[in-house]
Amino acid sequence: MKKNIALLRGDGIGPEIVDSAVEVLKAVADKFGHEFTFTPYLIGGCAIDATGKPLPEETVEGCLASDSVLLGAVGGPKWDTLPGNLRPEKALLGIRSAMGLFTNLRPAKLYPALKEECPLRPDIVEKGFDIMIVRELTGGIYFGERGYREGKYGEEAYDTEAYSRMEIERIVRVAFETARKRRKKLTSIDKANVLETSRLWRKIVHEIAAEYPDVEVADMLVDNAAMQLVRNPAQFDTIVTSNMFGDILSDEASQITGSIGMLPSASLSGGTRGLYEPIHGSAPDIAGQNKANPIATILSAAMMLLYAFDMKAESDAIVEAVDKVLNKGLRTADLCREGTPLTCTEMTKAVIDNL
Ligand code: IPM
Ligand code: MG
Repeated sequence: MKKNIALLRGDGIGPEIVDSAVEVLKAVADKFGHEFTFTPYLIGGCAIDATGKPLPEETVEGCLASDSVLLGAVGGPKWDTLPGNLRPEKALLGIRSAMGLFTNLRPAKLYPALKEECPLRPDIVEKGFDIMIVRELTGGIYFGERGYREGKYGEEAYDTEAYSRMEIERIVRVAFETARKRRKKLTSIDKANVLETSRLWRKIVHEIAAEYPDVEVADMLVDNAAMQLVRNPAQFDTIVTSNMFGDILSDEASQITGSIGMLPSASLSGGTRGLYEPIHGSAPDIAGQNKANPIATILSAAMMLLYAFDMKAESDAIVEAVDKVLNKGLRTADLCREGTPLTCTEMTKAVIDNL
């Protein structure tokens, strides 16, 4: 098969980790007889420096015209003082919105080889966990009305959370379908004791549950969920939640896998369109030092092969190679407590050698 992949390397460690995943994709293409072409586009801080805009039109057009998109990370201290609508992060929201990527799948599982890195109690680690977080990605407070105004106490800033029935229904359906292909257990996380948007969310979850009698569904308040994730993560199979809660809970879930450097994600529209990226950020403190863990991006490329191109064997090959490398005890700095850690390029090579 021939596929055109747009590359959004971005800032910080973004270029290093995207280049790693590209090497792995090239090796997979060779092995399985595919032809992947890669076209880079600017996004984030590097786009601001080159064009004055975090998300140039050319980038949006290039992504829309490609078969799939691989993204590294955006942002860094250099651009932190820019106004909100010119910040690198705005580009990430912009591309998600322009591509209609309302679903964000963030799998968090404990690799047996990384049990030692899990910060939880041994009896909790023993039970393991394998969670799929389905995060709504183009609505809620990230996209609501915001601004500055004169309030009761003078200068005031505000952000608003709004969710339409349509937006909730479509993400909740994706979550039920996802749970159906897994262990058939869905936890919907909200703050229905306080927020109106959560009460509508919960009502719709219960309505749609009637269409999925084979899936067990439960509601959980987000504060409790934050606690349950570290108390008993094994209780979760599929989680569905709003944009903001999903952002926070997926970072928490990543840390109990051992390192945020391990978690991939897929952002999907209702159709075949998708963008694949690690859940971690641009890590400016280690940028350009060849220290980053490329595994989250490599696993994001594996998700691309599966979800965008329906290449299951190819995707499994990457996942298995990562497993092998971890089982051999190979570790980048984020996961290494003894000995010399592998560099980003060494880890990439190790994965390719184990394909
Ligand atoms: C993520 C990130 C982004 C988000 C930021 C960089 C805008 O934290 O993908 O989780 O909040 O969605
Ligand atoms: Mg985040």
